[in-house]
Amino acid sequence: MSLRINDTAPDFTANSTEGEIRFHDWIGDSYAIIFSHPRDFTPVCTTEFGAVAQLAPEWEKRNTKVIGVSVDSVDDHQKWKRDISAFASAPADFPIIDDTDLTLSKAYDMLPAEFYLPTEGRTPAHSATVRTVYIIGPDKKVRLSLTYPMSVGRNFAEILRALDAVQKTDGVPLATPANWVPGQDVIVALSLDDAAAEAKYGTLDKKLPYLRFAKDPA
Ligand code: BEZ
Repeated sequence: MSLRINDTAPDFTANSTEGEIRFHDWIGDSYAIIFSHPRDFTPVCTTEFGAVAQLAPEWEKRNTKVIGVSVDSVDDHQKWKRDISAFASAPADFPIIDDTDLTLSKAYDMLPAEFYLPTEGRTPAHSATVRTVYIIGPDKKVRLSLTYPMSVGRNFAEILRALDAVQKTDGVPLATPANWVPGQDVIVALSLDDAAAEAKYGTLDKKLPYLRFAKDPA
């Protein structure tokens, strides 16, 4: 069974480029993004990790820790980080987990349907993870997940936008409309009637009885 929204993200202890990580303790009171990639030293992955490195100040502003994972070793991750930093002109100083034993890939459903596990002589080529992303809240619950195939690099600007939307709507009766970006109007949940919604969020822009916008309570 795959992980679902609001499931508790599986806790684990793993080796990483920053030493041993106990996942829930490492998240602490932050949000976290855990994202897998197929292989170290591959072209698309290098552009993705470069994009994550360049966004470091944005993750920081959002109290969000990022952590990569693949079935390669810490030793490979450390060497590959040099390429990422040189390519992106930004330090890749977030941890990357060594999941050579596939514990995490299996717990987080990061392996493709046809992954192959020979009984002997397994290499990362037999069991590459796909491009899976989870946004996890400070309560360790899964808030968002997405999975891209190996051939399609992710849009980390969209992941940042989705993180903004998750944080905007966490624990409040709000939702964000299609293509929302911070500063645009938000949708007030139907759990509030008009009077309660206006008392909480100010004048409503009522497009339909069930579609009521309020100013972004930034
Ligand atoms: C890449 O990152 O370029 C890649 C990795 C595995 C399979 C295909 C592409």
